[in-house]
Amino acid sequence: MLFEPLEIGSMKLKNRIGLAPLLNMPGVWTTFMITDATIKWFEQRAKGGAGLIMTGNFVLEMLGIPGAMDQFAKLAKVVHSYGAKLGVQIGPGGPLSGVGPSPMPYPDKRHPKQSIFQYMTGQLSFIPGIETITEITKEEIERLKGGFPLAAKALKEAGVDCVELHCAHGAAMLFCSFISPFYNRREDEYGGSWENRLRFPMETLKNMRAAVGPDYPILARIDADELLGPGGITIEDTVKFTVPAMEAAGISCFDVSQGSIMHSPEGINIPLYFKRGCYIHHAEAVKKATKLPVIGVGRIVDLDMAEKFLQEGKADIIYLGRQLTSDPETPNKYAQGRAEEIRKCIGCLEGCGNPCPINYDIFPEAVLLTPAEKKKKILIIGGGVAGMEAARVCALRGHQIVLIEKEAALGGTVAALAQDPLAAEFKNFVDYLGTQMRKLNIDVRVCREANASVIEEIKPDAVILATGASLRMPELAKNKPGVLDHVEALKNRPAIGQKVVIWGLMYGAEFAISLAREGKDVTLIGEAGEDTLASHASMNRRWWIVRKLVDMTVVRASAEAQKLSNPKVLFHIKVEDISSEGIVITDKEGKRNVLPFDTLIISRGRKKNDEIFTEIEGKAPEMYKIGDCAAAGNILSSVWSANELARKI
Ligand SMILES: Cc1cc2nc3c(=O)[nH]c(=O)nc-3n(C[C@H](O)[C@H](O)[C@H](O)COP(=O)(O)O)c2cc1C
Repeated sequence: MLFEPLEIGSMKLKNRIGLAPLLNMPGVWTTFMITDATIKWFEQRAKGGAGLIMTGNFVLEMLGIPGAMDQFAKLAKVVHSYGAKLGVQIGPGGPLSGVGPSPMPYPDKRHPKQSIFQYMTGQLSFIPGIETITEITKEEIERLKGGFPLAAKALKEAGVDCVELHCAHGAAMLFCSFISPFYNRREDEYGGSWENRLRFPMETLKNMRAAVGPDYPILARIDADELLGPGGITIEDTVKFTVPAMEAAGISCFDVSQGSIMHSPEGINIPLYFKRGCYIHHAEAVKKATKLPVIGVGRIVDLDMAEKFLQEGKADIIYLGRQLTSDPETPNKYAQGRAEEIRKCIGCLEGCGNPCPINYDIFPEAVLLTPAEKKKKILIIGGGVAGMEAARVCALRGHQIVLIEKEAALGGTVAALAQDPLAAEFKNFVDYLGTQMRKLNIDVRVCREANASVIEEIKPDAVILATGASLRMPELAKNKPGVLDHVEALKNRPAIGQKVVIWGLMYGAEFAISLAREGKDVTLIGEAGEDTLASHASMNRRWWIVRKLVDMTVVRASAEAQKLSNPKVLFHIKVEDISSEGIVITDKEGKRNVLPFDTLIISRGRKKNDEIFTEIEGKAPEMYKIGDCAAAGNILSSVWSANELARKI
């Protein structure tokens, strides 16, 4: 069904795959306009086979910039040249966007200044104007009710095929702030009952319909469930109130999203910890309540799953957001039977286009790979993601590659991290690169330790060292029974006992949750100065981890938000000794305690593995280091450093 056409009003889609609205459009952040870089970005996605290209959100102020409509017209032409249709998402920002006021009071009377982002970042200034939000005036409401219809008409005239009114995502967007009982505390005709809270977006939609005529498609992105429990919008409310009201206002299609950027971003920026397609039941519920087409979205990276959702009648169109960021060619590869070549999103939320850790080609100027001027024989030492990515790019440029890896399998640290069920999505990238090694006929030799004689045997023109990093082991933990480093523990999970202490709050925080889920008794300890949990992870991942581990004061109604009692987290700990009784610690007050353990997992800093470099230096005409062995970093730095070298060698 994915490749069957679909009509929505005057728009005929060639297939049912759409690019979800993403505010990661190059150029737009700096100019607030569609630029040539933005056009190239969307061109890649249209060329890759998606039938509908939806832009990220544009507020009225951006749509009114002189020349804006000419740029949309240019973009529409490019998108049409690939047989795809263009939609533009429009909607007024809420307080989080920094470009609009919000219904007041906000967000909660008991904790007026408490927000998750403030908690996470310690930066009150992250949200412009958060402490000075004023109630939006009726004059302003009238201005927006009149402005969006004019903008929709102008977009239609510019050749844009549909518009999508953004009524989702809680406090991030003004319409959702109005619809939400959690955020809207107004006492006039725009607050209180469902009818009142829906009034402003519904009147805007009605005006839009009148402005664009009966056939022009108006999509509405709704917040089916704010994921805030009964205090916020629930799916039952949506089906009962929002769906019929929007139908009556004349919309053409529902795009079903969920969550609030402020308090439940896991519905929007969905981390890898959540199951693929985890929110499709919201689209399904809306579909049961309407005859209009329904779009389903959320952590869908696998087109077999997308096809299944369509066949089961859960949605009519599937939006792919981050998946088309990590691989714009996903639809074409799937249609051509090349699904195994799809670079599946890992859900890391480390950039999502600005940049994307697994897709260096994210920036349009990086797309073209030039053939190497001189074809070289290149020896790559280390088959982690940096080594494999370098091998892939060098091979595509025409070099001859030998890749050696000391372990029996490829993937290095990323493959080890993927052993944790919570982080299993990391395997997507290891699998993709493994497939590429095979497709590109790369000479991969596993169980081969690098040394000077390997270089003498292979006689490469260039050597790329990609030997990764290893975990630091504190002196007092060395050779003690029951002690494993984080990677050893991941690789040998059956060796992990019932009582576990994890020393280190970065990756250790994720691992602690995962082990506790398996039923282990876990204590997570961090030293003085290390008081941020999961500091390695992007904000939206950290948000979820922190919420699991500490007692957040953010008010949420759902039981799921409650702090877990296992794992236990101890901050400001000094480790004194590791004895047969356990790990001996003192806390901030100097109180001594012994934590018994079956397994102590050390998850502290990492150091680069580049010792071999001195042994082999000078044995080949060119020699380079990439990834963790150049500087211990993350997937992004590994993949980036591999590309920067492999594109010029
Ligand atoms: C970087 C980023 C920017 C986003 N910007 C928008 C936006 O402008 N408007 C919107 O409605 N949703 C936005 N979203 C939500 C996506 O449209 C989509 O619902 C979400 O990413 C889940 O889909 P996915 O798992 O396929 O990426 C954004 C998400 C991300 C990760």
